[in-house]
Amino acid sequence: MATLLQINSSLSGDQGHSSALANQFTERWRERNPGGRVIVRDLARQAIPHLDAERLNAFITPADKRTQAQEEIVAYSDQLIDELRRADAVVFGVPMYNFGVPSTLKAYFDHVARSGETFRYTSSGPEGLLDDKPVYIFAARGGIYQGTDADSQTGYLNTFLAFLGLTDTHFVYAEGMAMSGDHKEKALESAQAEITQLAAA
Ligand SMILES: Cc1cc2nc3c(=O)[nH]c(=O)nc-3n(C[C@H](O)[C@H](O)[C@H](O)COP(=O)(O)O)c2cc1C
Repeated sequence: MATLLQINSSLSGDQGHSSALANQFTERWRERNPGGRVIVRDLARQAIPHLDAERLNAFITPADKRTQAQEEIVAYSDQLIDELRRADAVVFGVPMYNFGVPSTLKAYFDHVARSGETFRYTSSGPEGLLDDKPVYIFAARGGIYQGTDADSQTGYLNTFLAFLGLTDTHFVYAEGMAMSGDHKEKALESAQAEITQLAAA
């Protein structure tokens, strides 16, 4: 059974443009994969804790030396990694907040980047340990930054995901969401057209 993992991070829930576009893609995916399974994580509703010293120590303590509390911390991270590992495709809804990705999404990344599980260092550098799979990213921004240095998200997401072995990324942008005029409507129309194409590919 095909599985899609959808991670939303808009503070506006399903009203967020990034979530709405991600939801539209997921609906197309469901149509093409009847019987497929969709797992949705809404990071604004169910926040993932920040990585702190206690959590990092749990990750790096050998399995046979972990305390009960550390085992629980690692089990939580293992569950997130397992979802990512088993998914056949992954969808991220990503708003731009203060020129970065939402801190909730960063917290998620901090729980799925685990040495020996999703990446390792070899003599020739880092190696991602996840099997490659399509990753669809729906990025909503108030302004327009694509292709400029102010687009802090695209390079970061590509670098981070590739570090885990995920290189097959597809970005759909909804930019100018806070701008006056018809920027917003045009950007959303264009994003919807891209979704139709992507979902049919
Ligand atoms: C806290 C906050 C910070 C924001 N920071 C930026 C920003 O740095 N650059 C930008 O272009 N838009 C910024 N915006 C606007 C959002 O990117 C825009 O509203 C976008 O549609 C949010 O995604 P969503 O609709 O999926 O929630 C910010 C919005 C909020 C609420």
